[in-house]
Amino acid sequence: MQSRVALVTGGTGGIGTSIVQRLAQMGHRVATNYRDEAKGRAWQAQMKGLGIDVALAQGDVSSPEQAEALVRNVESQLGPVDILVNNAGITRDSTFHRMTPEQWTDVIGTNLNSCFNVTRPVIEGMRERKWGRIVQISSINGQKGQYGQANYAAAKAGMHGFTISLAQENAKFGITVNTVSPGYIATDMVMAVPEEVRNKIVAQIPTGRLGNPEEIAYAVGFFIPDEAGWITGANLSANGGQYMGW
Ligand code: CAA
Ligand code: NAP
Repeated sequence: MQSRVALVTGGTGGIGTSIVQRLAQMGHRVATNYRDEAKGRAWQAQMKGLGIDVALAQGDVSSPEQAEALVRNVESQLGPVDILVNNAGITRDSTFHRMTPEQWTDVIGTNLNSCFNVTRPVIEGMRERKWGRIVQISSINGQKGQYGQANYAAAKAGMHGFTISLAQENAKFGITVNTVSPGYIATDMVMAVPEEVRNKIVAQIPTGRLGNPEEIAYAVGFFIPDEAGWITGANLSANGGQYMGW
């Protein structure tokens, strides 16, 4: 397979790290963003220790200006971006009647507006080169809703609306746009859920366990090769059987 340039947002996080590793193992040159430089460089050194070179660029993806600067920085280090994984995300869980405007706007800004902010600077180049892969990391809770997550579920459902519109607009340019919707994966994000609540959630997962980040990276990798060029606008659930809507 041809080696391409891939940008994974939030690549230093639990799921992002596995996506970065998977794309690198597939032969691609991979970049991600950091917000805290010391943390980013320490993570980069850790990847280097595993034999994986990752380009780093600063950027908060909730800011259109910073997202554009992030993309231009990555292009200057590695060349034009052919593969984009919109993975950066946060939670600010609260029942809606107690939710603050900040909890709403932070989650919409980081999880949904980021898709506009980072995709906008890469899409023209993909269209000119007639090849591209864009994958949104949404969530099971964007598909089924979740108690305490009106902000997060709205953003994650919005991400798939974004996917299916872009998929239609860009299909004739050799660009596929797809969504992966993970269930509960063992990362810091899920470990922040109170243990008692988390145990009740795990009890509802047919596989009887949380997922691993590698299992999400595998699903992302599925959409990347040339052979996947017919698959666009899909929403691939990877949730241990917890939700099987279609
Ligand atoms: N269904 C029905 N009722 C529920 C419920 C549920 N899923 N969860 C909580 N409740 C009820 C409780 O039983 C309780 O009822 P009573 O008042 O009658 O006792 C009431 O709601 C209040 O519950 P809490 O004490 O937990 O309330 P809280 O205000 O302290 O916390 C919460 C509310 C923040 C939503 C908390 O329940 C929570 O953290 N829930 C988990 C939310 C969740 O799944 N987050 C996922 C984060 S990871 C992620 O987002 C990744 C991904 O994509 C999968
Ligand atoms: P995580 O470990 O908390 O990692 C989140 C990553 O996003 C970090 O690298 C973080 O960087 C980055 N990030 C957050 N806000 C950012 C911003 N404004 N600008 C740039 N980067 C930002 O979370 P995760 O579990 O790997 O989640 C990754 C994605 O998967 C998220 O979109 C999440 O919603 C989704 N997801 C997760 C699960 C799950 O169960 N874990 C399930 C379904 C979907 P910093 O270090 O700078 O904060």
